[in-house]
Amino acid sequence: MAMRVLSVASEIYPLVKTGGLADVAGALPGALAGQGIGVRTLVPGYPAVLSRLGKAKPLRRYDALFGAPAAVLGAKLGELDLLVLDAPDFFAREGGPYGDAGGGEWPDNWKRFAALSRVGADMAAEGVKGWRPDLVHAHDWQAAMTAAYMRFGPAHAVPRVVTIHNLAFQGRFGADIFPQLGLPPEAWGVDGVEYYGGTGYLKAGLVSADAITTVSPTYADEIRSPMHGMGLDGLINGRADRLHGILNGVDTAIWDPAADPLIPRPFSARALGGRRASRRALETQFGLDRDDAPIFIIVSRLTWQKGMDMVMDAIDHLVGLGGKLALLGSGDHPLEGAFLAAADRHRGRVGARIGYDEPLSHLMQAGGDAILIPSRFEPCGLTQLYGLRYGCVPVVARVGGLADTVIDANEAAVGAGAATGIVFPPSDPLALHGAIARAIRLHAHRPTWQAMQRAGMRADFSWTHSAARYAELFRTLIQTGA
Ligand code: ADP
Ligand code: GLC
Repeated sequence: MAMRVLSVASEIYPLVKTGGLADVAGALPGALAGQGIGVRTLVPGYPAVLSRLGKAKPLRRYDALFGAPAAVLGAKLGELDLLVLDAPDFFAREGGPYGDAGGGEWPDNWKRFAALSRVGADMAAEGVKGWRPDLVHAHDWQAAMTAAYMRFGPAHAVPRVVTIHNLAFQGRFGADIFPQLGLPPEAWGVDGVEYYGGTGYLKAGLVSADAITTVSPTYADEIRSPMHGMGLDGLINGRADRLHGILNGVDTAIWDPAADPLIPRPFSARALGGRRASRRALETQFGLDRDDAPIFIIVSRLTWQKGMDMVMDAIDHLVGLGGKLALLGSGDHPLEGAFLAAADRHRGRVGARIGYDEPLSHLMQAGGDAILIPSRFEPCGLTQLYGLRYGCVPVVARVGGLADTVIDANEAAVGAGAATGIVFPPSDPLALHGAIARAIRLHAHRPTWQAMQRAGMRADFSWTHSAARYAELFRTLIQTGA
């Protein structure tokens, strides 16, 4: 019989997305289906999820889940087989999945995501309507407590995998919530949910998991060091034999320049000319001059992680060398304001759009020349993969998944036709300046630039390989009883 996996995630494309986690949670089930694995995904019933469900059957009811009524609804959406936690007290709110429109976190996040995790563990123990998972896969801190509830409850024999998408977000709360979590007293301690005197959700998941995965091999190495371990490096080192770095993939049904309904003209590695229509549309949308100068794009959360403050400081340099910049993003308010001001200062050369716009992000990858990603750390990064696939050459910091996916245009790589982008040392403003200059120089030499575009477009970053690695890990855990 096919293996059954319960995935637990706090966001999933195309229903609710704040970042790459949603892309992964949305794409991995389809990729694992190709490996003979049936995935059902438990997600919170946010308004954006419930409104898209159509006919959904209640499969299980709770009179009081953390004191509130709740139901688990079963629904299919395209290829996704969803279990939706409909708990209006926790999830029926305007705003984002984790906070209000102003950016403030919901004060009861500890309860909202403990509830999600509790339900995940219940399903592992009792199943729903005859379906019981052979393994549970929990993503990030919002779902990590699933592993703790399983380990300290009746589902302790079911293997559990926790995936770290970003160690910077750990779900840390006070010690005072512990009595309300419904865990046995022995769950409080270094080997449980206690973390520096408080409660740590991701930490609890990591000590409770049979296997820990993260989203690139290089990030798997980096998080074992104090520099990238965010306080968890000791714990992760102690469990290094259970740690696996498995690269994210691209959902090629959604990101395919030859058949993308969100761009004006399809194109391929053999027919790059089709990119021109997107370039013109991009220039129009961002109020950029119509000329042949290289267009750098940015599609990103505007945060310190992404090195966006360094981009701010490099804008005059970029424009001074003749480049143009189109930025789409949202995040830290001072950065949002600074990018808008830069667009004002450099009319025709810099355009900024503050907000979240999925269709525009496709147009930018299709029409831009280079995508700039100067992250200070990057567990995997997906926008460089979309750039590679769309002939938008990545200019990236040598860190995490960026280091694993982009081949720098050094002499040897260019000579061998292997170069796919520009890679520079992270957290170094001067290196960023140098990389921008190098990109502009390379862009001026059409044959080299086009060879890089084509090499990137031909690289295979589909999910096929990575799904096979997850499948192998899952099988081993099930066979060995974890
Ligand atoms: P992270 O998850 O750290 O934000 P990733 O590169 O893994 O970084 O994933 C980001 C995802 O969110 C990509 O799919 C990217 O295209 C998308 N994205 C980020 N910001 C925006 C935005 N402002 N508008 C549209 N899509 C965005
Ligand atoms: C996180 C990381 C990003 C990764 C994504 C999906 O948000 O910041 O690097 O690509 O998760 O795994």
